[in-house]
Amino acid sequence: MYSKITGTGSYLPEKVMTNKDLEKIVDTTDEWIFERTGIKKRHVVTDEKTSELAVEAAKLALEMAGKTAEDLDLIIVATTTSDLIFPSTACLVQERLDNHGAAAFDVQAVCTGFVYALATADKFIKSGTHKCALVIGAETISRLLDWNDRGTCVLFGDGAGAVILEASEEPGILSTHLHADGKYKDLLKVDSPDMSSSEYERVKQGEVYLTMKGNEVFRMAVNTLGRIVDETLEANNMQKSDVDWLVPHQANIRIINATAKKLKVSTDHVVITVHEHGNTSAASIPLALDVAVRDGRIKRGETLLLEGFGGGFTWGSALIKF
Ligand code: ACO
Repeated sequence: MYSKITGTGSYLPEKVMTNKDLEKIVDTTDEWIFERTGIKKRHVVTDEKTSELAVEAAKLALEMAGKTAEDLDLIIVATTTSDLIFPSTACLVQERLDNHGAAAFDVQAVCTGFVYALATADKFIKSGTHKCALVIGAETISRLLDWNDRGTCVLFGDGAGAVILEASEEPGILSTHLHADGKYKDLLKVDSPDMSSSEYERVKQGEVYLTMKGNEVFRMAVNTLGRIVDETLEANNMQKSDVDWLVPHQANIRIINATAKKLKVSTDHVVITVHEHGNTSAASIPLALDVAVRDGRIKRGETLLLEGFGGGFTWGSALIKF
């Protein structure tokens, strides 16, 4: 028994912030941001919540798969920016989709969150207990940014991506590989809010925000993603040339190019959305996947390598026969 992706969907909030818009907020330039990161613009929420973005992406994935919410028996949302401390965003999505009774929970592995969630759903389906899963990566990371810190606020954006994963006798997800090392917890983090006031209020007051030692994260990301490419191919007895598409986490074009070089994949076979979306954390991989499926680049039967790296540190990959 395999699990197979039968539908994809994504959603971006309406408000767009270009690098030029950021020039008015912090001491930066369009040229610096584009040259160092590859980012031109990003979408940011005004007052939409993570669950609202997630639901829109989910509806499109369900439609492509030809399924209704009633068919779902598992809902997993990867997010670091849940609407509430609890209930989980997955339960809020479930309520809005009008599904009653599916298992629903969140997974938190920051930018690797979607790969963690996909691996979890794959194992549920392969074990035979579940048949139709909705797996979402959704974030409103803009809520966690210090808009006075030019080193971080230019890097991120908001959005959501979703897939429907169904039990199948044909190969779909071939393998998943998950890792973490909490030793690096301080290089990229958001301190916990004081529970005596609402998280939202404290974020608004600028008391809780994302901090990152960018250079060190960059070095670790490049080395680690190179290693996980080898691990994934070895586990499947495959060559680099067997991979049709690399669908990487979209943090920085220089990290993406370094991984593509390691894989010896030409950039024509790498899905790149970082210029349009920025780093949308757990949403970035399913967003990129959906863009390339809907514009016809990724076709049925092709082999995809998804890989991500994020706070924790966490990192992971999934090899997929689409
Ligand atoms: N505009 C202009 N100058 C800037 C900006 C900006 N937006 N940001 C930083 N600078 C300045 C710095 O102050 C520094 O100036 P100085 O030399 O006078 O001190 C100079 O630019 C160089 O700064 P660096 O931090 O060394 O720049 P670098 O080339 O490393 O790029 C970046 C920074 C883009 C953050 C890069 O390190 C990076 O992409 N890191 C990895 C991020 C990542 O992959 N995250 C993944 C996980 S994200 C997650 O899990 C949520």
